[in-house]
Amino acid sequence: MSDIRINKLNEYDREITCMPDKSISIRAILFNAYATGKATVKNLLLSDDVMSAVDCVRRLGAKVVLDGNTATVYGAPFAGSQLDCGNSGTTARLLIGMLSGLNGVFEITGDESLRSRPMRRVIEPLRNMGANISDTDGKLPVRIVGGPLSGLSYSMPVASAQVKSALLLAGLNAAGDVTVTESTRSRDHTENMLRAMNAAVKSDGNTVTISPSVTFARDMTVPGDISSAAYPICLALAVNGGRCRINNVGVNPTRTGLIDLLRSIGANIRYENEIRSVEPIADIVVENSDLKPFTVSGSLVPRLIDEIPVLCALACFIDGVSVVKDAQELKVKETDRIESTVAALKALGADITPTADGMIIKGGKPLKYGKVDPKLDHRIAMSAAVAGAAGEGVTITDAECASVSYPNFYGEVIGVERI
Ligand code: S3P
Repeated sequence: MSDIRINKLNEYDREITCMPDKSISIRAILFNAYATGKATVKNLLLSDDVMSAVDCVRRLGAKVVLDGNTATVYGAPFAGSQLDCGNSGTTARLLIGMLSGLNGVFEITGDESLRSRPMRRVIEPLRNMGANISDTDGKLPVRIVGGPLSGLSYSMPVASAQVKSALLLAGLNAAGDVTVTESTRSRDHTENMLRAMNAAVKSDGNTVTISPSVTFARDMTVPGDISSAAYPICLALAVNGGRCRINNVGVNPTRTGLIDLLRSIGANIRYENEIRSVEPIADIVVENSDLKPFTVSGSLVPRLIDEIPVLCALACFIDGVSVVKDAQELKVKETDRIESTVAALKALGADITPTADGMIIKGGKPLKYGKVDPKLDHRIAMSAAVAGAAGEGVTITDAECASVSYPNFYGEVIGVERI
């Protein structure tokens, strides 16, 4: 891996076609591979995490033919196998749920970062359904001896789309209904997609119920990823006079916490060309505006959890004190993102302090050039790039880790072509 040097940008005006959504791309591969029939998935994200999902379903016996960013997925009955999910927590957790009720022995592992992330949150409720899963101290590697599952009614201690999805997927094959209740609603792509594939899924507020169902492969086009759009959006707001237009962004309300927050602090953001499909889509136009400091807390957190590092980068350019709280979940992402966000922004001279469940940023003070080690966390690398480009420049080590979710991020968003 190599370093990248990003210089201060004095102006920012870009039009970008949004990177395809990572969460939806992974689901489109996993769910179609497991369904009956064949589906064409267009605008698939060709990133490392999605390729981990493709590799896993191929090992499970499904056929996936890639032609540019179109995938043809031929569903197959999954057979016992050894799976490596790389850096992808979504792939690992969803597969644990999907495989628990099938016949076969499945071993699942991942890279060093993924092997350090908690899996008990998925494994324990699955065990309550009768799943036979051995873990390694609550983490990967896990070994699943698939077998019959019973239904479940479960109140989740943390709002997590990955846990909710794992349980709903296990419910496809269970003997009874699976009902999952969250304290705050997390992203609902699994519910939307399974419903579109014939599964009996009912949502009522923060509760979702799935009845045992057979799913059929379904052609789909992946919308753009608002989590990837967050970088040019925040950069346009951080650079004086900046503007950007990001086309084809998925604007599912369970994902648009960033837009709601930015509008509430004075950002000039509008949607154009809105389309309602399985997932809503719009072009997002952003113009630099005077922003007030913000507080992120409570039910907003799951709606922008992956955007918190780049929001903290933006907070450095907003006069006043911005606060992130109720965000302990940041500690169990690809890195401990409280620690890694604070370390990255401090290296650039920011006044940022970690707290037990978030961080406090005293913004509006000048940044300085610095070197950031994102510890192979894609979102920390991209957030450091935004802070450096709007500040006084940055060198990012192992910069290619951005390709976990955003291949060619530096070229497309920052305008730096060489790594
Ligand atoms: C994801 C859910 C979120 C998010 C992650 C992707 C998904 O994780 O942070 O990047 O695809 O379901 P949690 O479910 O752990 O909150």
